Amino acid sequence: MGQMVLYIKTFSMSREDSYELLNEYVKNEALVKHYKMVATAMEGYVKKLKLSDSEIEEWWSAGLLHDLDWEKYPDEHPNYAVTSILPQKGYSNQILDAIKAHATSRTGKVAETSIEKYLFACDELSGFINAVGLIRPNGINDMEASSVSKRLKDKRFAANVSREDIAQGIEMIGIPLSEHITNLIGFFKIEGY
Ligand SMILES: [Fe+2]
Ligand SMILES: [Fe+2]
Repeated sequence: MGQMVLYIKTFSMSREDSYELLNEYVKNEALVKHYKMVATAMEGYVKKLKLSDSEIEEWWSAGLLHDLDWEKYPDEHPNYAVTSILPQKGYSNQILDAIKAHATSRTGKVAETSIEKYLFACDELSGFINAVGLIRPNGINDMEASSVSKRLKDKRFAANVSREDIAQGIEMIGIPLSEHITNLIGFFKIEGY
């Protein structure tokens, strides 16, 4: 009987590689901050879900790179990155699919797997929490979930953040909005945003 060899393909781009790629495509610091926050959110959740080390790296990378082509190729975002940048660098299909699914209207890809759903759920809300932090003297440091919920109801505040996407996101990951906000604030505090 021949021996069966099982190949386990693990994701191999290091965080340094990903940061280097980010620096190549993105100059705007506010954008870079958003990418880092979404990476932090994804890392927080993947660890909470107790997934494997390679999945931790995939979730983090999907977060960091989800808007990679936004600055240079806004009209083609995220299709440009998932066809012309990331596959060539060896990023996995899980990462590519997650990035596609954070922009369903542009890609036609609906979020199905956990990484896809969490990226969708973390993207807009992370941006919103950052916006709330910017108008507070101590930023995210002493932020309560209730102040974020209150601002969400004010449609004029950070009007570009889609409340509909936030609602859809929490439905995908199946936790109440207040819990999702609390989790994200917790992850961001640890990183000191
Ligand atoms: Fe995006
Ligand atoms: Fe984003």
